[in-house]
Amino acid sequence: MTPPLSTDSYKGVRDFYPEDWMRLAYLFERLRHELALWGYEEYNASPLERAELYEAKSSQEIVNEQTYTFTDRGERRVTLRPEMTPTLARMVAAKRRELAFPLRWFSIPNVFRYERPQRGRLREHYQLNVDLVGASAGAADLEVIRLAASLLTSLGASAEDFVIKINSRRLLNAACAAAHLEGDAAQHYLRALDRKDKMSAEDFAATVATLGGDDPLRHIEEPTGAVAEAKEELFALIEDLRAAGVTNAVFEPTITRGFDYYTGVIFEVYDTDPANARALFGGGRYDELLALFGGDPIPAIGFGMGDVGLRDFLETHGLVPHDIGLIPTVYIGTPDSTDIREAQRLADTLRKSHIRVFVNLSSRSLGDQIKDALKRSVPYFIAYGSEEVKTGSVKVKELATSSETLVSVAELPSALGSHA
Ligand code: HAM
Repeated sequence: MTPPLSTDSYKGVRDFYPEDWMRLAYLFERLRHELALWGYEEYNASPLERAELYEAKSSQEIVNEQTYTFTDRGERRVTLRPEMTPTLARMVAAKRRELAFPLRWFSIPNVFRYERPQRGRLREHYQLNVDLVGASAGAADLEVIRLAASLLTSLGASAEDFVIKINSRRLLNAACAAAHLEGDAAQHYLRALDRKDKMSAEDFAATVATLGGDDPLRHIEEPTGAVAEAKEELFALIEDLRAAGVTNAVFEPTITRGFDYYTGVIFEVYDTDPANARALFGGGRYDELLALFGGDPIPAIGFGMGDVGLRDFLETHGLVPHDIGLIPTVYIGTPDSTDIREAQRLADTLRKSHIRVFVNLSSRSLGDQIKDALKRSVPYFIAYGSEEVKTGSVKVKELATSSETLVSVAELPSALGSHA
């Protein structure tokens, strides 16, 4: 006999049992609601993409080490999307003549990265992507970063709970040029800078020394020429954010972002609680990515926020919504299985009044049905049998207190509706 199949899911991915999915879907609904208030529209696409989409301009680390790529039966190389930005760029470029710019678009795709599973990092996660396409730096940068902050505050976070670390590719590039680091040397430097807080000061200095120039960070501290200009532009943005009420945005010259497509402002949002060390959001301006598909460049800025880090953040700050209002309000029990038909009829009336109903289908005793209702966390219980049909009234039992109220069937929707 073959051994039974394992019930484990694939390494680094999650199963969502109804309770888990209900909670995640509820969070997404809250985010959708906030995004609609800002005029953002939802789009979607398949997780399957041609592999070359990522090879043109993405992150070397993601393309070489983290993509799930395979050859299909027609010899095409296919990649499970590791991020949404290339798909967004492809979709926008395909319809650039028809779309009304600027576009305010968002999506909540699942994305796949072959990473070592650890706190805050999985091999499949859901990632809210918010992008503003067709508007250059200035008001658009301000809007997108304000919106990032408002997504967290709309979930109950306060400014002390998170920090928005801001930098600029333009500034980093200018500083590299001032330090005489060009091409590969500049790329190596940015990769080292990205890991600076994981290295000792000596190791970082030694790495910089091997590249042949001086340290660009010194040029950022005492800027001149193009470096000064880029730094002023960035500080003006931070000032504008402050004026608009975003008080937790700070300049952080070691934020580099791994992707090759960023060209302007870049930012990451962090939890101020050290329990969650990884970035909650990451994003930036990418003004040249769309030109890879031909035609003139279309400026764009956006960010991604993963569901794993968001959940950890909400848990750490006691912000996980509890009463998410999706559990049935009332359990209709049946004294006898022949009562199920009438019970469903009563349930239909309640559903028409938008009351969530769970109808018993088993032949268990009423006592066991009450236990079942408690296990399912349904707050109210009604036994509905021939007696209730005859009298036209029911006893509504509140399970938490065991108190009962006699209510006529006609008044039941409004009696339960006030608790729904
Ligand atoms: P990213 O920084 O790679 O950016 O990802 C954005 C966010 O997704 C991260 O801050 C983190 O919350 C979450 N995330 C990333 N990888 C994982 C993982 N393995 N497990 C759990 N969560 C993860 C991007 O992907 C850009 N395409 C974002 C963007 C949109 N830039 C412009 N528009």
